[in-house]
Amino acid sequence: MVRVGIIMGSKSDLTVMQEAIDILNSFDIEIEVDIVSAHRTPEKMMEYGKKAQQKGLKVIIAGAGGAAHLPGMIASLTPLPVIGVPIKSRNSIDGWDSVLSILQMPGGVPVATVALNSAKNAGILAVQIVGTSDPSILSKIEVYKEGLKTKVINSSKNLNL
Ligand code: RP5
Repeated sequence: MVRVGIIMGSKSDLTVMQEAIDILNSFDIEIEVDIVSAHRTPEKMMEYGKKAQQKGLKVIIAGAGGAAHLPGMIASLTPLPVIGVPIKSRNSIDGWDSVLSILQMPGGVPVATVALNSAKNAGILAVQIVGTSDPSILSKIEVYKEGLKTKVINSSKNLNL
């Protein structure tokens, strides 16, 4: 069953969003990936947001750049948690426009906003959310974090200062 929806405003966002896809794949979590533009395909966005829960999705990752309205609009249309990925796109001034468009949501309609271009963290957060109802996934997260720790310990051992 598809558990995580990954959407982005443009195909040009895919190079960034691929990291979320890779993380979900590495945890064997089924995903569906689509291009949904808040400004260019507003009807598709409305349908996606309204049908996301009945399709069985548990969490949605939405990436967009510039005037990045997709994550917030999707959050307004579904009871599911939405993770927003601000993207430094070609129409973005410096990335802050994307960050603030996704981060500064009005009270009552949160978007869990990750760092600029941080689709990898969005993927990990989605795994953790799905894992709250699946202990086998949470134990994979523990193994993943142990791996991060081992890498740091090994890199400090190999400093040879
Ligand atoms: C946003 O505009 C998209 O999410 C993308 O980040 C940005 C630029 O889109 P393209 O002009 O590359 O299609 O809506």
